[in-house]
Amino acid sequence: KSEVRSGFVEVGKDNFCVPIYYEKFEKIINQFEVRDSDVYVVAHPKTGTTWAQEMIWLIVNNLDYEGAHDDILRRFPTLEAAAHIDSEIVDMSVLYGCDYMTYMNELPEPRCIKSHLHWSLLPEQIKNGSKKPKIISVLRNPEDTCVSFYHHCKLIEGYQGTFEEFCDLFLAGRSCYGPFWKSVFSVWKERHRSNILFIKYIDMKKNLPGVIKDVATFLERDLNEDAIEGLAKHLSFDCMKKNPAVNFQTIVDMFASVYNMTTAQNVFIRRGIVGGYKSEMTTEQIQKFKKWTEENLRGSDLDVE
Ligand code: A3P
Repeated sequence: KSEVRSGFVEVGKDNFCVPIYYEKFEKIINQFEVRDSDVYVVAHPKTGTTWAQEMIWLIVNNLDYEGAHDDILRRFPTLEAAAHIDSEIVDMSVLYGCDYMTYMNELPEPRCIKSHLHWSLLPEQIKNGSKKPKIISVLRNPEDTCVSFYHHCKLIEGYQGTFEEFCDLFLAGRSCYGPFWKSVFSVWKERHRSNILFIKYIDMKKNLPGVIKDVATFLERDLNEDAIEGLAKHLSFDCMKKNPAVNFQTIVDMFASVYNMTTAQNVFIRRGIVGGYKSEMTTEQIQKFKKWTEENLRGSDLDVE
């Protein structure tokens, strides 16, 4: 009952949970032809990946707001999505109109690509450094990430368990793309590479123009103050919530029909706050997360707050 219907399998020595069809695509992903001009977002689900993607896509594409009307699924495809697309659950070819890998290979440069995979599962050319695309990773506190993921799984993955059960799955590293801390650390340990930048959800909330500036510098793009202000407005929660191009409506609708649910509109961009978990978790759950985080962060210089 508490299992996510679309399921996952565990791979690698750290038992990373990946979508059930991933194994069929493991080799293709591993051998994916990376380009130095590519820009990747690598982050655990629900950490603000889409928010970062919209920011990055617009910076990379010289603030092409017109082009940004196209669905983010097409502008900024997911590396491992082939594993979802070929699933028997939904037919996403509607979005791409061709074989997914052909789509990825034919995207105009610079390509923007997202991945929720752990570092060890990324394309070989990224790991061995023979190609040096820019990589941006997003960090968010695990409590808000978990709450957000629970709502996501109910919405898109057909999850039918309780919130309490979901928290236990998340803590046990048995939610998709978990274990959370192993996933985060798998990228964090690569932070010495000059082609990796970490950004934090909390900083985007506190000072979005500052993060836009840092990301633009990292991507070697010039943005003046007006451009930064305009982009921050476009990326505000209220604007993103209303923007159909970033709410994954195609997928939400497809899953709603698969699971016979009423279609909800613009629900992917949900609450968008820091600390929202405090009103959704019990004191006991919060304590469990605190202890688990302390254990996992002991001795490290990582701070997601
Ligand atoms: P909540 O469910 O807590 O609201 P991802 O894109 O990695 O799946 O992350 C989704 C989370 O990012 C959701 O969190 C979503 O609301 C939040 N998010 C997306 N755009 C945002 C924005 N402009 N401002 C604040 N939060 C945003």
